Amino acid sequence: TQKQFFSEQLLAWYRRHRRDLPWRRSRNPYYIWISEVMLQQTRVDTVIPYFHRFIERFPTMQSLAEAPEEEVLKLWEGLGYYSRARNLQGAVREVQERYGGTVPDTKEEISTLKGVGPYTSGAILSIAYNKPEPAVDGNVMRVLSRYFLIEEDIMKPATRSLMEKLAKELIPGGAAGDFNQGLMELGAMVCTPRSPHCLTCPVMEHCSARDARMEEALPVKKKA
Ligand code: ADE
Repeated sequence: TQKQFFSEQLLAWYRRHRRDLPWRRSRNPYYIWISEVMLQQTRVDTVIPYFHRFIERFPTMQSLAEAPEEEVLKLWEGLGYYSRARNLQGAVREVQERYGGTVPDTKEEISTLKGVGPYTSGAILSIAYNKPEPAVDGNVMRVLSRYFLIEEDIMKPATRSLMEKLAKELIPGGAAGDFNQGLMELGAMVCTPRSPHCLTCPVMEHCSARDARMEEALPVKKKA
């Protein structure tokens, strides 16, 4: 089927093309968390040096929890969206106080943390804990809307829910972390907003947008 083909090919492709990024060298949920927060509005190349400096200064959740906020913000300088840094430190303090210093491994618990929305929680649970939870961001919605020809407005919450349900169904057994990172990677490297690189895409053969020549018209994103 179209879904099974996608899951199998994407996972195989990721395992062949995986970039060696600093946060991929460990399954430490704290490091995965930092990387996902930094990557939310910022490109990989920009994030790399910030990530290194951050974990060097705050190698453990305890060190971050105990640090003065100004010092955290100082290390964040240039990344922008400073509420991300404040929320991260606040949420790490919550983990220290409420969960004995272990990042929770369920959707319910992790979602109660400050600044941890559906994307971040899914990314941490799948990448650090290999739990079959979807991690749907803009890149992932672009890939799914094209491959499955979903023409609904991605600004609508109902469309997001549909994407999350679909993304969850697609996760191959026991490979949630690699599959989700493969989706992100395909969106970033191949299934780009403009001039997607379809000829190198592992799932082109069954891509509905490609058949319909709708690649660049998707996803549909209406103004708020
Ligand atoms: N963008 C968001 N999360 C990412 C990750 N884990 N690796 C690369 N790019 C990403």
